[in-house]
Amino acid sequence: MQVTLIGAGNTAWHFGHAMLKAGITVHQVFNRRPERGIALSRELNSRYIGDLNEISGSDLILLAVSDSAIPDILRKLAAHDIPLVHTSGSVEMMILKGCATSYGVIYPFQSLTYGIPLDFKRVPLCMEASDPSTSVLLGNLAHKLSDSVHFMDSGQRQKLHLSGILANNFSNHLITLAKSFLRENKLDGKLLDPMIEETFEKLKRTEAYLAQTGPARRKDMGTIEKHLDMLDNNPVLKNLYGMLSDSIIAHYPNK
Ligand SMILES: NC(=O)c1ccc[n+]([C@@H]2O[C@H](COP(=O)([O-])OP(=O)(O)OC[C@H]3O[C@@H](n4cnc5c(N)ncnc54)[C@H](OP(=O)(O)O)[C@@H]3O)[C@@H](O)[C@H]2O)c1
Repeated sequence: MQVTLIGAGNTAWHFGHAMLKAGITVHQVFNRRPERGIALSRELNSRYIGDLNEISGSDLILLAVSDSAIPDILRKLAAHDIPLVHTSGSVEMMILKGCATSYGVIYPFQSLTYGIPLDFKRVPLCMEASDPSTSVLLGNLAHKLSDSVHFMDSGQRQKLHLSGILANNFSNHLITLAKSFLRENKLDGKLLDPMIEETFEKLKRTEAYLAQTGPARRKDMGTIEKHLDMLDNNPVLKNLYGMLSDSIIAHYPNK
């Protein structure tokens, strides 16, 4: 299989390297900024193209650009017979209709960062296809890249994506805020690291619901009020602390 990659960011980097590892040829890389496209094409033993009209000889086009850039790229991409897939959690598959005869989605449900390798075999790949033969094509490709392949429609994928924002993006942001709070109060942010590690290690052994601890879980209103007072000069953190405490309290109605 020969793949043309459109994009040279986080997702393109991970798909490109996973394909290289799986023996799938990325034979062309297109990117808006040539320097990033050339760099990625070199890593993948591929050829950089600076014009979407140069796409040829591919069995698949993998579109891995920012969600907001997808419509613009699609406008510039000539309609053709090469199957076309995007990699977004939140963009409907039907956006590709009319741009290619067959199309689909391969959404990697993981937080991917350019140049930071991970075990792609463990990344859930969430698939959708326009028709049965594209479904077989994409399924075969996905099974070469990952041991976790799931077919779902655009609505289910969008809900999965939203759950990833809650679990990954928001917890990551809370850690950023917690470390800043320590630094502002002349304490070392690294003091949090063992707790952060144990939080995520514990989730391998038990359900998040059961692992919940803290004043809100214990309905210790005195401590909650005290913490809210301590955050008087930080309205963003105070608001988040209050909202999340209320949510935890509501989630454990009996104790
Ligand atoms: N990163 C993740 O964790 C992750 C996980 C699952 C799915 N995804 C999905 O993967 C896709 C790419 O995300 P990413 O994280 O790889 O993004 P990214 O690292 O920010 O890379 C964005 C890519 O889009 C290109 N681009 C941006 N605006 C453009 C425009 N107006 N015209 C043409 N190209 C443009 C960039 O080109 P330049 O280099 O020229 O700026 C770059 O190649 C998105 O649909 C995202 O939802 C991401």
